[in-house]
Amino acid sequence: MGTSLNEPPYEILPMGTAIGSDGHMRIGGCDATDLAAEYGTPLYVYDVHTVRSMCREFVREFGSRYPDTRVLYASKAYLGPAMARLVADEGLGIDVVSGGELAVARAVDFPPEDIFFHGNNKSEAEISEALDYGVGRIVVDSFHELELVDREAASRGLVQSVMLRLSPGVDAHTHAKTTTGILDTKFGFPIETGDAAEAIRRALSAGNLDLTGAHIHLGSPIFELEPYSVGLDTLLTFLAPLCKEGLQLRDLSPGGGFAVGYLRDRLPPPISAYADVIARAVKDRCSGLGLPEPRLLIEPGRSIVARAGVALYRVGGVKDVPGLRKFVSVDGGMGDNIRPALYGARYEALLANRATDNRRESVRVVGKYCETGDILLDQVELPSPQAGDLLLVPASGAYGMSMAGNYNLNPRPAVVMVEDGRARLVRRRETYEDLMAVELYGDHDEQ
Ligand code: LLP
Repeated sequence: MGTSLNEPPYEILPMGTAIGSDGHMRIGGCDATDLAAEYGTPLYVYDVHTVRSMCREFVREFGSRYPDTRVLYASKAYLGPAMARLVADEGLGIDVVSGGELAVARAVDFPPEDIFFHGNNKSEAEISEALDYGVGRIVVDSFHELELVDREAASRGLVQSVMLRLSPGVDAHTHAKTTTGILDTKFGFPIETGDAAEAIRRALSAGNLDLTGAHIHLGSPIFELEPYSVGLDTLLTFLAPLCKEGLQLRDLSPGGGFAVGYLRDRLPPPISAYADVIARAVKDRCSGLGLPEPRLLIEPGRSIVARAGVALYRVGGVKDVPGLRKFVSVDGGMGDNIRPALYGARYEALLANRATDNRRESVRVVGKYCETGDILLDQVELPSPQAGDLLLVPASGAYGMSMAGNYNLNPRPAVVMVEDGRARLVRRRETYEDLMAVELYGDHDEQ
């Protein structure tokens, strides 16, 4: 079990990651230093094989325990046309939370019936776009939205299938900024206040809505299994009496939130353990309450793409403050990975061009953004990084690029996908022209 500190943490790196005889890390059969030389840094590299394996693991582990399962990729973790195609090719559906994510799905002709549209404040325009494309489900989050969807569906003469996002009042013990199942959250209709029951009644009586089921999502990442069974228990116990009032529970979702390994000494439970707990909770509760078993919808985001992706940065200046610490600056930072600054998220790192160098020195890796809080790795052991070294951060595939921004007007990084020794650029590096393309210069505006 586990790797020694001087060995790369293979269990949190893309599957098949290896070290070449030249001491270079190889991801998907590609030399990381070659990728950096060809595409520049910062660079996000996704290993296709790992993404596919994770999709298959979810389908297999849930499907073997609960055959009527549909796995949906929560695309907020990372989305571009190539990733959308990849998950569609693996037979997954997709969860989108904005018109932008929907636009990407549309751009690759993602089957509309496999699209689930989430979000706590979808705009009228977004709802129209979703209805026009014919998305499979809109997961309604508020009374306001219930009316909007009903009205927009009526104006098109159609009946839209919807689910309701409910808030079960369950604490999944995540970071305060990523907990969503408690009463004090903006997401969903709370069961505790009576809003959930009222929303179900209104949805059932709406002329242009077909209420197919209910959804909860407790937070992310969830390292414990119990919150899922408590959440499903709470949800099904609440729904049972409403099923006597006309609710036909066809779809049921405990959301996503499955944890991943960021650090070699904090690994999550296997997917099979989550599947066990969830499948058992649904079956036991349904049989106990006399409910027919609904279709189970699972929404993994992070767990599909986190491990598949690594971030590559070029080391620049190294500043030693004797007796205090050594700062190692890299060419990315909070602009492409806000997670350490936002959640105190912790990562590991290694030097991709000197992976067999066993010397160790404790350093702080900082980004290039004009913020003291732009710290990628607060304290990490590395072989005395020097300008020109290539820093590789494992488990960077989720919520890095998807939360990236242009602070300090830094262009966002490029993204490549690697497979069997071949690399494919799927998102080019942004240019200054991209940054300025949306700006209007007063002197030309009137023309
Ligand atoms: N379903 C719903 C309704 C969600 O809100 C989310 C995530 C997911 C599924 C997928 O959760 P996952 O399997 O990826 O954990 N930016 C944060 C995470 C925010 C998650 C938001 N919702 C982070 O970087 O940790």
